[in-house]
Formats: sequence, C-alpha cells, structure tokens
Amino acid sequence: MTLKRLLPESWEQRDGRVFLGGVDLAELAEEYGTPAFVTDEAHLVSRLASFRSAFGDRAALVYAGKAFLCGALVKHLVRAGWWIDVVSTGELEIATRAGMPLGRTLMHGNAKPRSEMAEAVSRGVGRIVVDHPGEIDVLDRLARTSGTRPAVLLRLNADVAAETHEKVKTTGDRAQFGMDPVSAAAAAARADEAVGIELAGVHIHVGSQIRDPDTYRRAASAVVDFVEPLRARFPERVDLDLGGGMPVPYLRDDDAPGVAAFAGAVLGGLDTARATDRLGDYRLLVEPGRSVVATSTITLYRVEARKRLPSGREMIAVDGGLSDNPRPALYGQQYEVLAVARADGPSDTRFHVVGRHCETGDIINVDASLPDATAPGDVVAVPSTGAYAYSMSSRYNGLRRPPVLYVREGGVREVVRRETFDDLVSCDLDIASRL
Ligand SMILES: Cc1ncc(COP(=O)(O)O)c(C=O)c1O
Repeated sequence: MTLKRLLPESWEQRDGRVFLGGVDLAELAEEYGTPAFVTDEAHLVSRLASFRSAFGDRAALVYAGKAFLCGALVKHLVRAGWWIDVVSTGELEIATRAGMPLGRTLMHGNAKPRSEMAEAVSRGVGRIVVDHPGEIDVLDRLARTSGTRPAVLLRLNADVAAETHEKVKTTGDRAQFGMDPVSAAAAAARADEAVGIELAGVHIHVGSQIRDPDTYRRAASAVVDFVEPLRARFPERVDLDLGGGMPVPYLRDDDAPGVAAFAGAVLGGLDTARATDRLGDYRLLVEPGRSVVATSTITLYRVEARKRLPSGREMIAVDGGLSDNPRPALYGQQYEVLAVARADGPSDTRFHVVGRHCETGDIINVDASLPDATAPGDVVAVPSTGAYAYSMSSRYNGLRRPPVLYVREGGVREVVRRETFDDLVSCDLDIASRL
C-alpha cells in the first residue's frame, strides 16, 4: 500500500469508480474537462495543521508560494496563521490581494529588481531576505526615502552537502544563492551599521527534496555557528529561518520522511547546536512549499491516443503534459499514472505514457501499470501534482492553463478557472488588426 502515501487522504475506489473528496472523478472530468488539477481541500487543511503540531506555536510557518499560489490557498494559510514567502511583486500581489497581511510576507530573490525592492520596502513586507551585500545599500537608501525600516534576514550559503538533484541544490560553491559565511559576516556588519534597516536574522535553504533529515541538523548547526560570534549585531530575539525542502513521494517506492521527521531534525538540530544557550532568544522560521501542497492534488487527463512503439512497447498519449507540468522535462521526474476509467480491473499492462506536446521529453512515465484495455477516451489520474506544476505551467503549443478544482464532502469549488481563448490572446495587441 505504498501508493497510498502519494494519494490525497480522501482518494477512494468504490464499485469500479474513483472518488476524491467524495466526488466521482470520471463525472468531474466530464463536467469540467481535462486536463484539470483536483485538490482534496480537507487534505490540504490537515497538512497545514500537521506542520503546526510538529513545529509548535512559537515557530513561524512560512509557505513557499512558488510551489503553488492561488487565492483559495492563501485564505487557508491566513486562517491557519501561516506566513508566505514570495519571490516577486507578482507573487506578493496574489498573496496580499487574497488577504495575507503584509507583516506575514517574506521576500526572497537572488536578482530582485530595484523596482520590486522599492515596492517591498514601501509596502512594508515583513522580512526581506538579502541575497548579496549590494542589496543592503539599496534597501538602506530606499528605506530612508520611504520612511519605513525594513527587517532583513541574511541568506547564508554554508556548504551543508545536501544529497539531492543538482538542479534543486541551493548551497555549495556552484549555487548562485546567498553568501558564504565570510561575506555574510561582512554583510551583517554592514547591515548593522545601516540605520535604515533592521538586521532581524539569518536564512538558509539547502535545497529541495532533501531526503536525509540529518541535512537539517547540519543546516541548524551552520546557522547557530554563524550567528553566535555576531550575536550583538542581531536583535534580542533573532530570526533563524531554516528554509524548506522537505521531500514528497512522486512514485510508489519513493522514500520520503514525513513532517514529524523533518520537524524532529530541525528542532533536534537546534537543540544539538545548543541554540538557546549560545544565542539566547530566537524564533524559528521554516519555509516548506512542496511538502505542504504536492500530495493534496492530482491531475486528471484524458487518453487521446494509443499505439505500439517501434520497440514493441504500448504507448498512450494524454491531452496535457509539458504545459501543465514541466517537471518531467526539467528534472526527469516520473509520475504514477492511475486508471480512473476501468478502475475495477487489474492494472497489469505496462505503458509508456506521454503528453501531447511536440517535445520528446514530454514523458509522464516510461513504465506505468494500467488496465490492458486502456483506450482513447479513458480518464487517468496523475497524483502528487500539487507543487511546481501549475506554478510552472505555460501556454506552450497554444494550450490554455487548466482549472484548479477543490473537492470536499461531495462538493466541487472551481478556485481557478480554465483559461479561455481570449486569455490566450489577451496580450497580443495586433491580433485583431486588419491584414
Ligand atoms: C528560499 C526557498 N525557500 C523555500 C523553498 C521551498 O522549497 P520546497 O518547495 O522544496 O519546500 C524554496 C524552493 O525553491 C526556496 O528557494
């Protein structure tokens, strides 16, 4: 039953049909079309609560908005007392329009445009994470003219040796994020002297899909070691932000320790590093993204084609792919593909499952098990697509972005609608002019 770990809690198979949030997925696909992202809303809410119980009331839980962002999700975050981390004024706009208080926003970015830093300062973003020393002078100048006093965290690049995909590793000599401990110490001195800004703490994010919880112990130690000699430069209660990166399962055999293991490693790491003895009062911040939303959501696709490849393998192609989820093409990530139609029979035939885009890398799974009779018109579900799929989606090949449907207790709430053809051409100013 390892598959269960990557499915939303309410996933249920009954009388040959599949239900999510009590809603029949085949009927949902019929009514709203495919591709469609379908989120188990209760699963999402319970996920937010499990982070709170694992980290306790004193920690600031900061959702990494890049994983997925929409108004309905932000409202859940606000209600649950979370903060949000944004990397652009665009993300800030979504978060605040949906009701996230500015004081609970945190802004990242390794190349923040000056105009966006100015917006962050004048609007009063809660924390700005400084990626390189030059940003301190810019923020200081902006703060003096706007009359606000932004609170900043310094992004530390300490080589914590995270074991993960090279493309999601964010520390070490090849990573473009943050400052090595020597440069960060110089930046701390500069920030301390800059009267326009408040040096509130330190941030580290070692990467994503960090499967070994011990990495967080090392990250916690690195942060405590960094702050201790500079303690006087920080306020009485210093912010220690240990970033995100907790792993999620994508395939049934994936090993992904849960929230409790992650929290245990972070809290245990701070204890082992004797953070309280060495630093006095501090506040822990964590920034999970993927692990909050990934498994709450599945993507529904319709099978459009079936054929045999020259290699003799059976292949099916579905009506989405790269444009609604570029992760297979970016990272070589494979996903499970589950039958929604014919769910009562055995899934014992191997299929190569691809998307509809003109890219050889548009592959969802090279070896998915599905019912032998799988045919065009059938609906299939791809689990664990709640993170970095919609948020990385595009209109490649003229496809319109899919809707996001929240399901709960037998009801459906369309929280993001499918794009229309008008949306598709909305920025093309010459499209309707005469030839
Ligand atoms: C600074 C920072 N914090 C948090 C996250 C969230 O990581 P994840 O979604 O893997 O939890 C990221 C992801 O890239 C990040 O860059």
